[in-house]
Amino acid sequence: MSEQKETVGVIGVGWVGLVTAACFADLGHPVIARDILPDKVEALSRGDVAIHEPELEDLVRRNAGRITFTTDMTELLEGARLLFVCVDTPPTYSGDADLSRVRAVVQELPEDSEHVLIMKSTVPAGTGESIRRDKPDLSYVSCPEFLKEGTAVADFMHPDRVVVGADAGDEAAADAVEALYQPLGGQILRTDVASAEMIKLASNAFLATKISFINEIANVCEEVGADVGQVAKGMGLDERIGTAFLRAGIGYGGSCFPKDVSALKMLAGNTGYHFQLLTAVIEVNELQKRRVVGKLEKHLGSLIGKRIALLGLAFKPDTDDMREASSLVLSARLQGEGAEVVAYDPVASDRAADLLGSVEMATSAMEALDAADAAVLVTEWKEFAELDWSAAGERMTRPLVVDGRNFLDPEKLASAGFVYEGIGRTVNTPKPAAAS
Ligand code: UDX
Repeated sequence: MSEQKETVGVIGVGWVGLVTAACFADLGHPVIARDILPDKVEALSRGDVAIHEPELEDLVRRNAGRITFTTDMTELLEGARLLFVCVDTPPTYSGDADLSRVRAVVQELPEDSEHVLIMKSTVPAGTGESIRRDKPDLSYVSCPEFLKEGTAVADFMHPDRVVVGADAGDEAAADAVEALYQPLGGQILRTDVASAEMIKLASNAFLATKISFINEIANVCEEVGADVGQVAKGMGLDERIGTAFLRAGIGYGGSCFPKDVSALKMLAGNTGYHFQLLTAVIEVNELQKRRVVGKLEKHLGSLIGKRIALLGLAFKPDTDDMREASSLVLSARLQGEGAEVVAYDPVASDRAADLLGSVEMATSAMEALDAADAAVLVTEWKEFAELDWSAAGERMTRPLVVDGRNFLDPEKLASAGFVYEGIGRTVNTPKPAAAS
């Protein structure tokens, strides 16, 4: 009879909390997941997952017998010793991380040394220290998550590394957390709390810096006639650089990079240090979202009254998340220039409709392209690469595409009669159809 695995507690069943709960359950642990929203708890108890995340709903349903969803903190505290805190830490107006939900959870926790608070929410460095000051008897471990939306379950099950941060006196608690992740086989880095907190922020800030860097390189490539795809490939072959996160495009978005970059910049600022590099990373990213407008004007002249189709709205494919999506800024800029904007996204249209005001929502890519003066690829959904671009060209007023993710095949678009403009790629003009 296999040994009963330790019960895992999860506080805050949003995207991170639900992935954490479902994956530990799938590893054989009984899980108690507590959220303050009764409707969410009821829906999850029925196996209904409102988040668009591949594999997650199956995982929750497959492990229904092991996961208890509850609003009751007492039930959680009586049933679990290891408590993963996965509540939201959204940015405040000052750009600092809003820790009110974290503090509310800490207030609810008993002053005993029986429970271990395992911080998975992204928090500024120093948060752990201040919580330990408030609750000196509580064991505290920082265990930041590095999951990506769209591949979260796979990222959890196959981690590059698991960071376990604990300070003097909490070694046993850190051992218990390490034991939970051992079966996954990823590298486990044991460190102190403040360093663990910084690893999370610095990792996201560095990835965002890589993206802003390659976007600036792309902009220079356009001036000197080079191809950023080739440049990124050549750079990435140097293992000190690596090919990952060197895809030029119209800027990074999502619930993490924008928030964590500004939180790190503010954290530094609050200590009196001006983090210049991150100031530039943020500015480059904002400008990159807007460069599409100049590309369209180059081909169409004034955009007043022009009909522009946006293909994709989510901040990246395989998610319905619109947080800090480049499409939000781009559609507003286009409307600001007097253009008529129509948009389509395979899964995010409902969420987007509330955010995009007077933007017309189409129910398919082809419908969005009807009578359009140009198309802009904003999110690299597979279905756009598989589109019948010849048929699309016939439905458009003008076969012009700006590929904001360098996702489409310029040759294929050119032979379909399109003028193709990428990011940091040479413009491709229509090729006469091969003589039959
Ligand atoms: C990110 C981190 O990758 C993850 O480790 C962390 O835990 C949470 O934040 P996520 O926000 O889901 O994950 O998305 P990610 O795949 O990192 O993409 C972020 C943004 O960068 C997207 O808008 C994407 O389009 C953009 N991006 C990514 C680029 O523009 N170029 C790239 O090469 C990679």
